Amino acid sequence: MSTETETVDQTHPFQAEVAELLRLMVHSVYSESDIFLRELVSNASDACDKLRYEAIAKPDLLSDDGKLAIRVKPDVAAGTLAIQDCGIGMDRQELIDNLGTVARSGTRAFIERLGEARDGAGLIGQFGVGFYSAFMVADHIEVTSRRAGTAEAWVWTSSGGAGFQIAPASEAQRARVPRGTEIVLHLKPDAKRYLEPDEIERVVRTYSDHILFPIELAGGEGEPRQINTASALWQRAKSELKVQDYTQAYRSITGMFDEPAMTLHYRAEGRQSYAVLLFVPSTVPFDLFDRERKGHVKLYVRRVFITDDAELLPTYLRFVRGVVDSEDLPLNISREMLQNNPQVAQIRKALTGRVIAELESLAGKEASSSDDAKPYAKIWEAFGPVLKEGIYEDFERRAQVLALARFTTTAGTGRSLKQYLADIKTNQTEIYYLVGDSIERLKSNPKLEAARARGIEVLLLTDPVDAFWSATPLDFDGKPLKSLSQGEVDFSLMPVVDEETKPDESATTAIDDATVVATVKLALGERVSDVRASQRLTDSAACLVAGGRGPDRELERLLARHNRSTGIKPVLELNMRHVLVKALARAQEEARETDIADLASLLFEEAQILDGEVPDDPAAFTARLNRLIMRGFPAA
Ligand SMILES: Nc1ncnc2c1ncn2[C@@H]1O[C@H](COP(=O)(O)OP(=O)(O)O)[C@@H](O)[C@H]1O
Ligand SMILES: [Mg+2]
Repeated sequence: MSTETETVDQTHPFQAEVAELLRLMVHSVYSESDIFLRELVSNASDACDKLRYEAIAKPDLLSDDGKLAIRVKPDVAAGTLAIQDCGIGMDRQELIDNLGTVARSGTRAFIERLGEARDGAGLIGQFGVGFYSAFMVADHIEVTSRRAGTAEAWVWTSSGGAGFQIAPASEAQRARVPRGTEIVLHLKPDAKRYLEPDEIERVVRTYSDHILFPIELAGGEGEPRQINTASALWQRAKSELKVQDYTQAYRSITGMFDEPAMTLHYRAEGRQSYAVLLFVPSTVPFDLFDRERKGHVKLYVRRVFITDDAELLPTYLRFVRGVVDSEDLPLNISREMLQNNPQVAQIRKALTGRVIAELESLAGKEASSSDDAKPYAKIWEAFGPVLKEGIYEDFERRAQVLALARFTTTAGTGRSLKQYLADIKTNQTEIYYLVGDSIERLKSNPKLEAARARGIEVLLLTDPVDAFWSATPLDFDGKPLKSLSQGEVDFSLMPVVDEETKPDESATTAIDDATVVATVKLALGERVSDVRASQRLTDSAACLVAGGRGPDRELERLLARHNRSTGIKPVLELNMRHVLVKALARAQEEARETDIADLASLLFEEAQILDGEVPDDPAAFTARLNRLIMRGFPAA
């Protein structure tokens, strides 16, 4: 690809990720190719938004009639489709940066997911991949752009593949693009249907109807005609709108393809007036677990887009998407000023309250209906891990967020704390939980044994965020939450219901429990902070728990993985009725020192293994195990 002429500079290589994305676009025979138009129109609309925002401070930028529109122009003879805007435009460097790399994290996450999904079908449609989706329908693309307020115009061209070229615009191109961007798609043979006016209109109506700027269809005879509604749906009365209107608006505002799981539309009047249209998606967007934890609520002031960076909701509600359109904020409010603006703070507070209340109402309806559609359960499944961040981040609403939480427990799935308390055992004063990395692993954790024997329900927490929020002292309805792997538990007031797991009292030695405990503690030395008789265990010999202070075991493990271990040693709890512990007592009675040391270490290491850890010294562990086995099964 070296078609260098005097005006064309060298071929710029695409960033590797872009090249990979393009390979996929070029080769996809893909039923949802419609979305290319949605993506280009949405970029054109963004460009108009940006210009209008910059023009608040520099009105000269809008020196012409000030009307911002997007134009779609099919040219049947040439086999090209052009999408043109008179928005902010791009200079040479912006063309290189914006159309040569993948900047948005959503797209990057998309590429990572591709490996799992084999082909991009479904995924492209659901999330869009921005500008590059145009290569689904075009084998050659020319982008001519002129940054608002500058004289020069540049042309970016590419046929997909490895790279693109940049050249100064010709006279004819400069004349066509007085400001903004024109994108000319040379359509592939199987994409020629996008030249038909009806087809263009259908696609625009489906995906871009609520774009705020007029989208005009040009070409053919007569004046260009507007083909979208271009209305701010959130300004319309609820009574005028149908479910489909909301679904369409949702898709056009968020760029998602699913159905909204929750829609919240209202107008606030009073100290401030603003319109609110918010949605909760029903599928998980790619950027949900981004480090920046960025929100997706767009702030408009009197229909002018200001920013999607105004943090109109706390980060634990960042899965909520939509629009807030204020009547009172000054148009020229800078994005920086938004942070400290008391009016914005007031909107944020009210909005948070409404979203939580709406979630509560949805959850409440679900609890009292037998309907199969369970929107709240869906929302929790998709966004619970994010919502739970609110338990430690929003002190004021902690109780509300806890009440919204749904848990997998030893009694079932989708359990609320309210249900937990309704089924609580007589004399049970605490809500028990166990943190780990998988439900399977937790269910076989020895720390559950005593609770299970008493029929006590235990919350099984497996989201990474669980280790964090559970580290703060919490209670629900006056009952503290209590980890089964931290501190001491007292089940003595609750009777064992499962007779089979009742301890075996038969084997006895002359050595009492306290002595055994002291012996093991001596043998283990620095490896533990304490050793004690356990109330948690019925079947297993030993388990490791965190002391009353310091982090829970799972949090400590997480911290250790990031080299931030607290260095606090665990407590080893012994099941005094277990044969291994009895064997240790016997060894002590008979003063067999090697056996005592081996058994003590083995108890400790078994507990580590049951927690999913590897013994510190696997070689020594194996040697010890072999020694003990050989005593039972001598080879000769
Ligand atoms: N019509 C346009 N006018 C100005 N800039 C544009 C236009 N189309 C694309 N861009 C620039 O290219 C970037 C990449 O576009 P895209 O791949 O759609 O990702 P996104 O829109 O999510 O940022 C945009 O962020 C924008 O900076
Ligand atoms: Mg885009």
